[in-house]
Amino acid sequence: MPARKRGQRHLGEQGDGDLSVARAAGSYLFDTRGKRYVDFVMGWCVGNFGWGDAELERRIERFRGPDYVYPDYRYRPWEELATLLARLAPGDLTKCFRATGGSEAVELAIQAAMLHTKRHAFVSLEDSYHGNTFGAMSVAGSEYREKFPRLLPNCHKIRLPLDEDALDRIETRLERRDVAAFIMEPVSINLGVCVPQPGFMEGLRALCTRYRTLLILDEVACGFGRTGRIFATEHFDIEPDIMCVAKAISGGVAGMGAMLATAAVGETMEAKGEFYSTYGWHPRSTDVAIASIRRIMRDKRKLLAQVAATSDYFRERIGGIEFGSKLTLNMLGLAIGLHFEEDEYGDALADRCRSNGLLVASQSSDVLLLPALNIDRRTASRGLDILEQSV
Ligand SMILES: Cc1ncc(COP(=O)(O)O)c(C=O)c1O
Repeated sequence: MPARKRGQRHLGEQGDGDLSVARAAGSYLFDTRGKRYVDFVMGWCVGNFGWGDAELERRIERFRGPDYVYPDYRYRPWEELATLLARLAPGDLTKCFRATGGSEAVELAIQAAMLHTKRHAFVSLEDSYHGNTFGAMSVAGSEYREKFPRLLPNCHKIRLPLDEDALDRIETRLERRDVAAFIMEPVSINLGVCVPQPGFMEGLRALCTRYRTLLILDEVACGFGRTGRIFATEHFDIEPDIMCVAKAISGGVAGMGAMLATAAVGETMEAKGEFYSTYGWHPRSTDVAIASIRRIMRDKRKLLAQVAATSDYFRERIGGIEFGSKLTLNMLGLAIGLHFEEDEYGDALADRCRSNGLLVASQSSDVLLLPALNIDRRTASRGLDILEQSV
């Protein structure tokens, strides 16, 4: 999978800034002129259960808790949510830190890694995206350094593909024993759905353990069922030291993020970290996230079976479309990356899709489809028909 040239391209940058949203329902979005779009972006992995999900809406309407809780106090629902997340997460991530979103969760992860290892270097993937705060930009693609030359120093980037050769390059860097953490999305949505080659993640985990470097997995976009497992990490035989979540945790109904860590890392963070967050885990966000996580736990089998079946359907339909440029399809579950040989083909295709009533994300030669995990077959088919008409 070729590297993306820039970080994640947001809707505003791709000429969609004039899409004025009036309302959204299920997998449909309506603009202020009444035009209806099939939504294959879903807020970039936020609306995993569709917009206006009845269970989450009901929950927020019926919320009778406090307007606000000062972060230094105790609040039982915080403990409940932290326990649920720890239960759902892979491995032994028993400590949970509150954040308002993905970038803040990544900042907490960077901080925890530095404090726990007493080291300051990081290794990550070239062209990756982890948010717009300074720590997150430091470990993302090198292009951020062109704009902000004084980001965190000693951040080394590994180029794709994620294979044996990449492991050798990583080992060369980790051998210096100054790397606090290796950070990556286990399945990188922001790199056009980059799935590491077999053995890579296990090899990476072994190297991190050998050189006492922490492994941070950023599940902000790929978490909560997107790739066909609850967390993308579960496709591999590994356990991270730290995991970041946000986006679909609350289905978009309220802002929320979290950093999960092993007991050892969490204890260091509790003793030495800076994690006060005024709006981190607002009571309403907490309530809706509890409902969302409980539902994922309750319906896990059904949800993942649905992702698998819908994924097969997308694969088959995409395979039957004759695009105007040679296609490489990178997909896992409902994380679907279409890479085209021709530069700008993805952007042009996305523009035509939008005119025809379908929203997809694009960047230059790439198109991403990130439909709701529970999209019904009729709507999926309608969206794919529009994609086909738009080539
Ligand atoms: C992998 C990843 N990490 C972190 C972030 C930052 O999340 P937020 O926008 O909630 O700060 C994003 C946002 O797109 C992301 O895709």
